[in-house]
Amino acid sequence: MSFEPSDRIASLPTGIFAELAAKKRAVAERGLSLIDLSVGSPDLPPAPFIRQVLAEAVLDGAKYEYTLSAIPGFAEAVASFYQRRYDVSIDPSREVVQLMGSQDGLAHLALALINPGDIVLVPDPGYPIYAASVQIAGGQLVPMPLRSEHGFLPQFDAIPVDVARRAKFMVLNFPGNPIATIAPPSFFEQAIAFAKRHNILIVHDFAYSELVFDGLRATSILAYPGAADVAIEFNSLSKTFNMAGCRIGYAVGNRQALSLLQQLKSHIDYGVFRPIQEAAIAALTADPVHLDEQVRIYERRRDTLVTGLRNADWQQVPNVHATMFIWAPIPSGFESSRAFSLDLLESSGVVVTPGDAFGREGEGYVRIALVQSEGLLAEAGQRIAAYLQRH
Ligand SMILES: Cc1ncc(COP(=O)(O)O)c(C=O)c1O
Repeated sequence: MSFEPSDRIASLPTGIFAELAAKKRAVAERGLSLIDLSVGSPDLPPAPFIRQVLAEAVLDGAKYEYTLSAIPGFAEAVASFYQRRYDVSIDPSREVVQLMGSQDGLAHLALALINPGDIVLVPDPGYPIYAASVQIAGGQLVPMPLRSEHGFLPQFDAIPVDVARRAKFMVLNFPGNPIATIAPPSFFEQAIAFAKRHNILIVHDFAYSELVFDGLRATSILAYPGAADVAIEFNSLSKTFNMAGCRIGYAVGNRQALSLLQQLKSHIDYGVFRPIQEAAIAALTADPVHLDEQVRIYERRRDTLVTGLRNADWQQVPNVHATMFIWAPIPSGFESSRAFSLDLLESSGVVVTPGDAFGREGEGYVRIALVQSEGLLAEAGQRIAAYLQRH
């Protein structure tokens, strides 16, 4: 028997990540140890108090029923976190939707909002689910290029008016993956004005809201006047609290968009495991001092890797002030992002992600994730230096 994939599945790209995974296996089988800087999954554990709450709840046999939606206290915990961290007031009864990770919301939002053929504006390069979710829902993608000459910010005046008029929503992601830009206030104000003018929902992915270094802070889009009229924001416990495997996140902001997402989800899932929700409440309501320690860890990792790569004569490597990613132009003399990444992996065992995995505009770049210890990042720098010298 053979089963044909749906057109929907067939339209989704698999190429680069599958190629990278196969190459990783082949290199490891050859006996070369890998230093994997290609994944965006935190290697650090959640703080001990979070694991303690989770462990105790898991042992309670009464906590295994379907939760269906957020348990009492979760939405209030999100509202209190937003008030304390971003100075944003949220009505917990109507302005919070719990998610199985922000991916759940980002993946399903298009199905709740668009009809086949509707236009959605997505950043290019961008985190892959933005484009995939629109393709799954049968929408029409219009990329917003993020280029260095514009500080990696989308240019709204480059979007033709007839496209803007037909666009249902627009995805923004600051600080972003794969590009760690922190957008200035003027950008958010411009985005809100543009969205109001053309009746477009802004979908702001704020997954890296707390991984911001050097004394800087990221702002929630909801901190800007009028944002709740046009914006929904996705956030997550995955990176802030190292709870990526727990699968818990949330969306806040525009009530109508949230209610449509909630309505769709009520047909799809039965809620997050109660012990995980309890651990999330503990995380969101705790004194955020442990977040500062985490920021320091990422700062040191960033310093180690950026210094190591620049010493390797890879001068174009930028300093980054947020997220767990460095978005670096490939060294000169290589024909493409993919050729460089695959050859680097083959020769040195260091795994980075070719930029075109995130869209056409990513060609010429690689994404390097700070998801290993300082020691391994230093070794990665040395291996890359040796590789570039040989090349
Ligand atoms: C930019 C961005 N958004 C969303 C997610 C999804 O995170 P989660 O579903 O774990 O909340 C990720 C994960 O890597 C990400 O990098």
